[in-house]
Formats: sequence, structure tokens, C-alpha cells
Amino acid sequence: MSKAKLSSEEINDMKDLANLSRNDIESRFKISGKKGKEGTTFVAIGNSGKEYAIKLFKATKSYKKIHDEAEYQKLAAVYGISPRVFAVNTKTKYIVMEKLEETIVDYMRRKYPEQGSTKPLTNEQQLRIIEICEKLDCAKVVQNDGNPLNLMLNKNGTIMVIDFGFAKAIDKKVLQKRGPEPNINLTLWHIHRQLRFYKITGPLLEERVSSYMKNKPSWNTTTITKCENAEEAKKKAKKKAKKKKDIKVEEATVEEEAKKKAKKKAKKKKDIEVKGATKAEDVEKKAKKIRKKAKKKEKKRVETDDETDDETDDEIDDEIEQRKKDTNTLDARLRRNEEKREKRLKEKRKQKNKR
Ligand SMILES: Nc1ncnc2c1ncn2[C@@H]1O[C@H](COP(=O)(O)OP(=O)(O)O)[C@@H](O)[C@H]1O
Ligand SMILES: [Mg+2]
Repeated sequence: MSKAKLSSEEINDMKDLANLSRNDIESRFKISGKKGKEGTTFVAIGNSGKEYAIKLFKATKSYKKIHDEAEYQKLAAVYGISPRVFAVNTKTKYIVMEKLEETIVDYMRRKYPEQGSTKPLTNEQQLRIIEICEKLDCAKVVQNDGNPLNLMLNKNGTIMVIDFGFAKAIDKKVLQKRGPEPNINLTLWHIHRQLRFYKITGPLLEERVSSYMKNKPSWNTTTITKCENAEEAKKKAKKKAKKKKDIKVEEATVEEEAKKKAKKKAKKKKDIEVKGATKAEDVEKKAKKIRKKAKKKEKKRVETDDETDDETDDEIDDEIEQRKKDTNTLDARLRRNEEKREKRLKEKRKQKNKR
């Protein structure tokens, strides 16, 4: 049984599923996927109702090979990149493990159903496949069978690696021959080559493989990516993925907000400029108009003033003239009257003297 902790439900289910005959398996359970080269995988249901995968090997397969395959898978499972192993039955020759949903090939066919269509892996999927290979190195196992049918998705859509039938332990000899990352050199190399057969594309996988191959001369001096404690690594990866997702959403929102703000600011600035220009223009026009009007008014006023002045002067002159005339006339009349009166008085005196 696996060293990884089993839940009470799993322990209970294994009481039945760990001790089956070939006939039990073949008659009770349905085949998952296709009949494999080394055996057939069935979907078994435990007493709890939980589903499991049972890989039933050929009856001729050696006990040692089954044991090794199960052991390598357990090492990988610790890093959260392979299904957990719940039971190994070397007598009937099968292993019981976590059930996965579908192969990456079936998934991509479902996603891109058109025949002959290119099926691009998402960046996340590509990075996960690279991560699987890096963690296989940490687990010190070369999976060594980069068939895309050995990449499966679990219920959460997370890619997992299965089938440790050709797996080997990473020892000094392997490191010498394959460099510090044997799973990039072997497993990922095969994965990226064989994905082409299914028209599944993954440029990040190509890049990772080719840059590793280019660095071959420095393999001796290169150190492997620091491998963390498996459980810690698992937790960290989960946290990181969540954070990455959150940051992405946040970044998108912040960027959008900033864009909106900048747009608004630019619009406002433009409006102000236009408004300012219009206002300045208007003011200038108005000022011009006022100046013109004032000038005209002033001109008119000067002209009018001149005219008024002239008129007034003439009038005064006329009046003076008239008054002068009047005065002359009056004087003359007064003088004439005086003269008449004096004449009359003289005649009166003359008559008086005559008498
Ligand atoms: N854990 C699992 N859950 C569900 N199906 C599985 C599981 N493991 C294997 N299978 C199915 O069985 C097929 C063959 O399994 P695999 O281990 O690759 O056998 P082989 O050694 O014959 O290639 C896979 O492609 C998949 O369809
Ligand atoms: Mg296989």
C-alpha cells in the first residue's frame, strides 16, 4: 500500500479493491480509454461510491516491473504531478490509483473538434507540462515515455503524468548522459515531438527543449532547479497559481481603470483647451468690437462736439450781434425821444415869452 496518507474512506474501499481476481476486474468494471500495450486500465467504484483507476497488467509481466512502476509513480505523486497509488497487487498484477478524467489528446479533440484543425495548448497548460518535467527531476525519476496519451487531466483540469512503465531512477550515469534535467532531455523532448502527430501545438515546450539542447556544453556546470520539500512545493504552487490569477485580474482591472482615467483626463484637457481657445478668441473679438465701437463713438463724439461747439458759438455771436443791434436801436429811439421832448419844451418857452 502507498506511503501517502489514505483517508478512512479510501482505506475502507481498498479492503475490497486491493484483493481482486482478474475475472473480478474484467467483469465488474469498465475499461478507461483504450486497451494499452502493457495492460488495460479500468474505472472501479469503491464501496463509498468513489471512483478509482485500476491498471491491470499482462499476466506475463514480472513482479519486479510492476513493483518498480508503482514505486516511481508514488515518488512522482508526492510532487502532485501523478495520480496517487492506493494499492499494488503483485499476485493478480494490478495497481489501484486515483482516477483521472481524460487524456490531453481527447481533451484537445473535444476543444477543437474540426478534423485536421490546429490545437494550441494554453500557456498555462504548457507551463504545467514543463513543471511536471521539472518536478520529475526533483523526484529523481525519468518518466521516459513522452507519449501524449500519458498526459491526463484531473477533475480540476490540471494536467498529470501517468505510466511509469519505462521509468528509471536518476542516478549519476543518467545525469552524465542527459544533463542536469533528464526529463527535459528525454520526457519533454518526446512529448513536444509527439504532440505534433495530434496537431497539438505548444511553442513554450519547443523553446524549453531547444534552449536546453543548446546549453549542452554547460550541462556539467549547470545545477538543477532547487527542489523543495514536496508537500511544501505543492502548497506553494497552488498558492502561486491562485495569486497569479488574482494579480492578472487585478492588473487587468487596474490597467483598464488607468486607461479610462487617462482617456477622461485627455478629453477634459482637450475640452479645456478648445473651450479656452474659444473663450480667448471670443474675448479678443469682443474686445476688438468694444474697441472699435469705442473708437467710433469717440470719433462721433468729437465730431458731434465740434459741431455743437460751432453751433453754439454762432448762436452766441448772432445773439450778441442782435443785442448790439437792439441796444443801438433802443439808444437811438431814446435819443430821438429826448430830442423831441427838448424841442417841444423850447417851443413852449418861446410861446410863453411871446405872450
Ligand atoms: N489514472 C487513470 N485514470 C483514468 N484513466 C487512466 C488512468 N491511467 C491510465 N488510464 C487510461 O489508460 C490508458 C493507458 O494507460 P497507461 O498507464 O498509459 O498504459 P500503457 O502502459 O499500456 O501505455 C491511458 O491512456 C488512459 O486512457
Ligand atoms: Mg502509456
